Amino acid sequence: MTATPLPDLGRRLLTNVDANHSDFAESMMLVPAEEYRDPSRFARELDVVFRRNPLLVALSCDIPNPGDFTTLDIADRPIVVVRGEDGVARTFLNACRHRGRSVAEGCFGHSRRMTCPYHSWVYDTEGKLVGLPGREGFADLDVDGLMAYPTAERAGAIFSILTIGAALDIDEWLGDMQSALEMLNLTKLHRHDVETKLPSGNWKATADGYLDGYHLGYLHRNTIGAKAITNRNTYDLYGPHVRIGFANKGIVDQRDVAPEDWPEPYDCFSLVHYVFPNISISGHPHRSLMVSRIYPGPTPGESTVVQYQYFREPLVTDEQRAEAEQKRQLYRDVTYEEDFLTVIDITRHTDVLAATGEPFRFGRNEMGNQNLHRWISRLLA
Ligand SMILES: [Fe+2]
Repeated sequence: MTATPLPDLGRRLLTNVDANHSDFAESMMLVPAEEYRDPSRFARELDVVFRRNPLLVALSCDIPNPGDFTTLDIADRPIVVVRGEDGVARTFLNACRHRGRSVAEGCFGHSRRMTCPYHSWVYDTEGKLVGLPGREGFADLDVDGLMAYPTAERAGAIFSILTIGAALDIDEWLGDMQSALEMLNLTKLHRHDVETKLPSGNWKATADGYLDGYHLGYLHRNTIGAKAITNRNTYDLYGPHVRIGFANKGIVDQRDVAPEDWPEPYDCFSLVHYVFPNISISGHPHRSLMVSRIYPGPTPGESTVVQYQYFREPLVTDEQRAEAEQKRQLYRDVTYEEDFLTVIDITRHTDVLAATGEPFRFGRNEMGNQNLHRWISRLLA
């Protein structure tokens, strides 16, 4: 099996536009507001959803060469993802085997060695401990390298389970999402180095925004939703992962043309790939991509969203960089002022909604959201 080819997706979007509705789930779904605020449920989400199942921890192009690394801190796990001399990407707990200090710092970097600043214990790019001053004091040392998490690389992305010794079957986990990601051509991207980091409310309410094609023409009517025919989406559910198609106004002009012949890069529809549980990739196979990562915060009511833009060609000229920067700021303003302020507002209401037994209601047209909540509940069960 493979993901729906893009021309077929175009055909389905046009069908939905003509039918005046999006793809439909079988029924509406209620999710108790309590599930957005309960601290014990939140702790289980971190433990099970974020630490016992695969996470997309980096794109392959984030660390293309041996010695390239990226560090992140997710679900209370500080990690470093590094490409070894052998070309293999590995994820380690970013903590020295001596007394736990981080061995790599900075969001992205390059180094042939990771050296703990505390006592200069040195690790190579494959995580092996290759030197420590005063070795005679550690004659009976019981470890030989950093603690490694199960890791696999597929379709231009690197996945890890943040539990030492866990079994990782990445092909099973991705299912047809693997071919959907392959269609996106993630392997040869160039990252715009300016990071956007934004506060939001509950992580699931934040994810709900990324998985929701319904709000585009309302919340974003004056910005990114202006070109859309809202609520005519396709939802491809690949296990826990979702590909969302968005119809744009120009799609009706293509009615008499076979989607195979629609002009690339398909201005008449937009795409979001949501890699469960926390990654949204917005964009087309031949265009720039916006990748958003949702990091659950220290409490159920907080999360942080980190966004990076990726381009098909390296940004070389000042003009290209200025254009990228302008795009970044626009996306930042829209997502913060429209999406995340909405999420923060909703999150403020979860206490009173939970106290009155009120659920959130997901319509048949909110298939992506339904899938998110169904999968979280399934994993927690
Ligand atoms: Fe939105």
